[in-house]
Amino acid sequence: MDRLRIVGGQRLQGAVTIAGAKNAALPQIAAALLSPYPLAIANLPAVTDVENMLGVVELHGAKVERSPHAATIDAGEAVSKETSYDTVRRMRATLLVLAPLLARFGHARVSMPGGCAIGARPVDMHVKALAALGADIAIESGHIVASAPQGLTGTRIVLSSPSVGATETAMMAATCAKGETEILNAAREPEVADLAACLNAMGAEIEGAGTHRILINGGRSWRAATHTIIPDRIEAGTYAVAAAITGGQLELIGARLEHMASVVQLLEVAGVSVWPGDRGLMVSRDGPLRAADLTTEPYPGFPTDLQAQFMALMCCAEGAALLRETVFENRFMHVPELMRLGANITLQGTTALVRGGASLKGAQVMATDLRASVSLVLAGLVSEGETIVNRVYHLDRGYEQLDRKLRMCGAEIERISA
Ligand code: UD1
Repeated sequence: MDRLRIVGGQRLQGAVTIAGAKNAALPQIAAALLSPYPLAIANLPAVTDVENMLGVVELHGAKVERSPHAATIDAGEAVSKETSYDTVRRMRATLLVLAPLLARFGHARVSMPGGCAIGARPVDMHVKALAALGADIAIESGHIVASAPQGLTGTRIVLSSPSVGATETAMMAATCAKGETEILNAAREPEVADLAACLNAMGAEIEGAGTHRILINGGRSWRAATHTIIPDRIEAGTYAVAAAITGGQLELIGARLEHMASVVQLLEVAGVSVWPGDRGLMVSRDGPLRAADLTTEPYPGFPTDLQAQFMALMCCAEGAALLRETVFENRFMHVPELMRLGANITLQGTTALVRGGASLKGAQVMATDLRASVSLVLAGLVSEGETIVNRVYHLDRGYEQLDRKLRMCGAEIERISA
C-alpha cells in the first residue's frame, strides 16, 4: 500500500487546477444507463471512485471509451444484472445504478451497502422514493430487489430529509415515469443540479434542481448527449485550507465562489482572505489564524465533506473552536489521528472542541476514509518533521494527484510506493 511522506513547514504558493467534481461524476455515470444513446462526459476527474463507477456500468453491458479527463458511455446494449455486495461495499455510490436500471428495464437487483466507516448510512429514502413511483421492493438475501413491469408512474415524493443520494435516485427514476413527478425537500447540492443538467442534455425534462422542489416531466425521449462536469467544490475547499494552514497563497483555477459561500464565509472568520480571480478563486493568509465554530449541514450549509479539513485548520488557530457534525453520526475518525500529531481535541458525541495553538509534530498516521485522510495530509504540512500518511488509496478515491499538486506549490511531499 502506498504511503505519503510529508515534511512540514513549507508555505504553499502557486496555482492548483481544480478537477471535475467526483460527487457529480458518479451519479452521471450511473445515469448513462438510462438511455440507449451515448453520453459523453467531459471534465471527469481521474480518481479511483470514477474508475470503479465506470467499471460498474461496464459490468451492466455499457461500452466505455476513456480519455484522461473524459469518457463516452454507450449503454445501447446494457442489461440489468445483479450488482454484488462486493461492488457496493467497495463504493457505496454504486447504489446509484438501482434507479436507472429499474427505470429502463423494469427490474433491478442491487446489494444493500451495509455500514461504512462514517456511519450506518441507511437506504430507506432511496427505497421509499422508488416505491412511491410504483416499484415493488423486496429485500432478498441482502439485496434490494426492485421491479416495475408495467413501468413507473409520476407522483409527489416528500423526502424526510434532503438526502443527496435519495434525491438523485428519485430524479433519475422519475425521468422514465409516466406523467409528472414532484420531489419536495430535495437536496440542493450543486451536484444534484449538475445531474439534472446532464439528464436534460440526454433528453429529460427537469426543472428546479438546486432548489427544495424539483419537477420532472417523465417519459421524454432520449438522445445522444455531451455534458461537462462542474468543478469539485470539496477539492477546492481542501486546497483553500492548505493555503490557510501554511500561511500561503493559492490560486484555485476553476473554483466557483457561488458553490462555496459557507466555506468562504468561515475562512474569512478564521482570518483567511478569499477573492475571485480571473481564473477562479484566490486564497491567502498572512495574519494570525483565528478559531471559528462550524456546524455541518446540507447545502448551502457548511459541507460535512470539509469538516475534517477545517478541524486540522482549527488545531493551528488561536483560541478554541466547536465543530458540530449533524449530517453523519460517526465522522470523527480523524480525531485520534490528529491527536497523534499533537492536536488538542475533546470529543463529545457529535461535537468536537478543538483547542488551537497546538504545535504539531510529525508522526505515522492513517485514516479510514477519504476526507479524514486528507485532513492528516493538511496537518502534516504544518507539523514539525516527518509525517507518514498510510493507506493512500483512500486519497486516490477522490483527489486527483494530490501529492503532485501540493508539491507543485512548494510542499515537501512524496509518495512512497509499497
Ligand atoms: C453524498 C456524498 C457524500 C457527502 C454526502 C452529504 C456522493 C457520492 N456522496 O453522500 O460525499 O458526504 O452526500 O453531503 O455524492 N440517509 C438516510 N436514508 C437514506 C439516505 C441517507 O437516513 O436513504 C442519511 C445518511 O445516513 C446521512 C444523511 O442522510 O446521515 C445524508 O446522506 P446523503 O445526503 O444521502 O449522502 P450520500 O448521498 O450518501
